[in-house]
Amino acid sequence: MEEKLARAREFEQKYGNKVPLSERAAYHVTAPVGWLNDPNGFSVYKGEYHLFFQYHPYSTKWGPMHWGHAKTEDFIRWEFLPVAMAPDQPFDIDGCFSGGAVEMPDGRQLICYTGVKPAQDEFVPPRHIQHQCVAVGDGVNYVKYEGNPVLSAKDLPEGCSIYDFRDPKVWIEGDEYRMVVSNRLSDGYGGLLLFKSSDGFHWSFVSILMESRGEIGRMWECPDFFCMDGEEVLMVSTMEMMPKDLEYHAGYGNVCMLGHLDSVTGRFLKKTMQPIDYGLDFYAMQTLESLDGRRIMIAWMQNWATVSASGHHVSSHLAGEMTVPRELMIRDGRLIQNPVRELKNYYGKCSAHRQVTLDSAKMSFRDISGRILDMTVTLHTDHEDPFQAFRIYVAEDRDNAVTIRYKPAKGTIRIDRSRCSYPFDIVNAREFNVKEKDNTLTLRILLDRHSVELFVNDGEQAASSMIYAPACADGISFEAEGRAVFDVEAHELKLN
Ligand code: FRU
Repeated sequence: MEEKLARAREFEQKYGNKVPLSERAAYHVTAPVGWLNDPNGFSVYKGEYHLFFQYHPYSTKWGPMHWGHAKTEDFIRWEFLPVAMAPDQPFDIDGCFSGGAVEMPDGRQLICYTGVKPAQDEFVPPRHIQHQCVAVGDGVNYVKYEGNPVLSAKDLPEGCSIYDFRDPKVWIEGDEYRMVVSNRLSDGYGGLLLFKSSDGFHWSFVSILMESRGEIGRMWECPDFFCMDGEEVLMVSTMEMMPKDLEYHAGYGNVCMLGHLDSVTGRFLKKTMQPIDYGLDFYAMQTLESLDGRRIMIAWMQNWATVSASGHHVSSHLAGEMTVPRELMIRDGRLIQNPVRELKNYYGKCSAHRQVTLDSAKMSFRDISGRILDMTVTLHTDHEDPFQAFRIYVAEDRDNAVTIRYKPAKGTIRIDRSRCSYPFDIVNAREFNVKEKDNTLTLRILLDRHSVELFVNDGEQAASSMIYAPACADGISFEAEGRAVFDVEAHELKLN
């Protein structure tokens, strides 16, 4: 085994179990130790779900990228596997960047990833070449292909960049492998390139699948492309996005497009576009098709803006968590996402209160508190006599609270974590439009030790955010300006 990989495996063995359980999320994936960002190679292999991730075991900061590795049978309980890859070859010496994985017909697992190496020119700061590499393995150990890189400068059409060429997502279609990769095109904006291969090792260019032209951010990262509910779905993470009303915020974003791949031109024709997650912390999502045919998505529950602004983390041993895996579907031409149904297998005590009336007051329930919880609040609005605002406070104590506020007249939800032991004055809140259904708004709130994920109206919209408040901030309360009627149902989650 290469020395760097052996060292990383030894390191996570030695330090992984020294991380106190209280610093780990109860059901969200973290690194064994150190830093984690994008999910990689989220796929089925030999009947189990594998997840790799961008990983720097040695510190809580981004560094030379390894591929960490975990697997699960139910998306909730995960088992760590040894680090899968280290940046130890001339073609990936500066990092094994994001990519995908697929089970090959002969039973091996194929990993496609971006190898990063120095450009060896005179630019300051030094530039890096990005190209696509593959490795094959048995679900634990991987051998990088001696013919790497499998896609490099010579495979790119005119005007494509070799410095921004990354994040392959691979799948099998009929008897062909397909891969979509991000690139920066000659106008400086992001684009997606489609490639094909008959064996997973020899690849050729098919088409420019899509380009941003500046309408959807600048550079794109981490694309995913799949069919679901009769629609073709393209997802990208966007850099330098321009804000648009309350729908898109500036900076790092995430977009889902429904459309159609024109088989003659190889171009994706976009019909609709929507943000995937309206919260503060969500990026680089990837999906797989589960054994029972569901499309499941997982994402890095942070982004480069929220993480670089401070370098502040929930623990001194760990940085970065994944979102809860979410089941996707299309309803009325829109993406719907809900936590995987397997979460319900971990339900413990349930506390429910129906038709609670709050009149310009704040209240809590003796049987509803905690930081590891699945809680649904159903708000009923009386438009003859509407309340001005309704607030749900979670992770609350004297000094902390994450606030979820609904204002019916404005039709917006605001999620705000500015009072949450986070000592940096960066963007700490997001607001977005929501629509009631039959005078009702449903807010499902998933809490884990360091996060809150909100699902509005049975998955029509989602908003995710990290929480930095200490574990003892475990209060939950409700407040209305005006008269509000609501139901609440809270399920404790029985997880470590
Ligand atoms: C997205 C990203 C990818 C890259 C990886 C590096 O978050 O910037 O484009 O492959 O992270 O860790």
